[in-house]
Amino acid sequence: RAELAEARRTLGIGGPGRLDGPPALALVPTMGALHEGHRSLMRQARELAEHVAVSIFVNPLQFGPGEDYSRYPRTFETDLEICAAEGVSVVFAPSAEDMYLPDRQVSVSAGAMGAVAEGAFRPGHFDGVLTVVLKLFNLVRPDVAVFGRKDAQQLALIRRMVADLDVPVSVVGAPTVREPDGLALSSRNRYLSPQDRIAALALSRALFAGEREGGPAQILRAARAVLDAEPAVEVDYLILADPATFAEVGDDHTGEAVLAVAARVGTTRLIDNVVLTLG
Ligand code: PAJ
Repeated sequence: RAELAEARRTLGIGGPGRLDGPPALALVPTMGALHEGHRSLMRQARELAEHVAVSIFVNPLQFGPGEDYSRYPRTFETDLEICAAEGVSVVFAPSAEDMYLPDRQVSVSAGAMGAVAEGAFRPGHFDGVLTVVLKLFNLVRPDVAVFGRKDAQQLALIRRMVADLDVPVSVVGAPTVREPDGLALSSRNRYLSPQDRIAALALSRALFAGEREGGPAQILRAARAVLDAEPAVEVDYLILADPATFAEVGDDHTGEAVLAVAARVGTTRLIDNVVLTLG
């Protein structure tokens, strides 16, 4: 807390809610193992505010038992170099002990929207995400925060939290950065063996196949066919949902919908999505 206050003083950032000029501080929350997707968020943040802060914290609260918390990639030195190269003013990298009191009691609940889609496969995950994100907002006190659309349900829930709890921050969503062959960048891609890496392309290929179709049923059928053709990919869910609520849409739905997929490839769990306009 003291170090963050000192950083704000050094940068000449006063209290929150500046009344004139561009926003003073933009925050990009991350779990490190930074890649081009994170870098694009930092660049977007630089356009939005005078200074950019990046947080690097592998949040134990958002990992379930048996998930990859202990083996999650940690590349702190390289991460710092990337932040420096992107002109980041503050890197906030607390320890788990810095973040969580041993007797902590109170946390944020993601509600029903945190229990569908990704939340159905990762119980408690979004409670952990929202709790840490609210804490990061309170500690860093940014005017703006930038999140990737790659994690579409996470972004929707953060917007929901900010609206429901009157959090004084503007949330901005940034486009998904992909490899030239379509694979969405993810810190978890480094777990993929060369064969898994090829199989993992079925996720984006399925979404792009869905994108070319007209109605909900055809979209889901086309995407499912691509996934079914890749035996190394085990699908957790493939849904067409309302981007704001993640409720699955009916066959008569018009307007925006998110086609979202989660699948396991070997021991790696990947998610991806595209936003479509129907009707
Ligand atoms: P992490 O997975 O490190 O992602 C940090 C941010 O980068 C998120 O907003 C995510 O959506 C974005 N991101 C990841 N891959 C991307 C890609 N290929 N293109 C564009 N943006 C991408 O998401 C988390 O960390 C955590 O849940 C966090 C919000 C930090 C809370 O712990």
